[in-house]
Amino acid sequence: MPVTRLDRKADDSMSADVKVALAADHGGFELKEAVKKFFDSNGISYTDFGIYAPERCDYPVLAEPACLSVRSGECTAAVLICGTGIGMSIAANKFRGIRAACCTDTYSARMTRQHNDANVLCLGERVIGEGLALDIVKVFLETCFDGGRHAQRVGLIAEIEGRNFK
Ligand code: RB5
Repeated sequence: MPVTRLDRKADDSMSADVKVALAADHGGFELKEAVKKFFDSNGISYTDFGIYAPERCDYPVLAEPACLSVRSGECTAAVLICGTGIGMSIAANKFRGIRAACCTDTYSARMTRQHNDANVLCLGERVIGEGLALDIVKVFLETCFDGGRHAQRVGLIAEIEGRNFK
């Protein structure tokens, strides 16, 4: 059984051993608040790294503390939200050990956990509706990494980081 910090058995509750780092810029603020309500009603632990009011701000600044909390192990995964999800994913993937996926459908959310062991989910509030976004979050948190040949590929990504991230 492959082991990652997000892994759990299929019959475990979604809340088991999970602590999610949450962050959004002004383009993702409303969806972040909806994700927090979803976590509250499902007993999922999270840390909100901001923003705390819908004021114009810069998404890389919000991505950084959330990604560092995943890298340190303080959080098991992160959900980062901006207008498109793209800026957040570009910023998040600059951090060693972070594998961020911008998802607009549940299939991609499942596959990026199974095959890429993604530890950061990025969402675009201006791209998808709240219902789909919450389904994507649920699938992302519930799905385990497949390991095997995929672990070898994720290892190759880490090797690229080692060679190219100063
Ligand atoms: C903010 O207007 C917007 O650029 C930001 O939320 C995000 O979509 C960037 O990728």
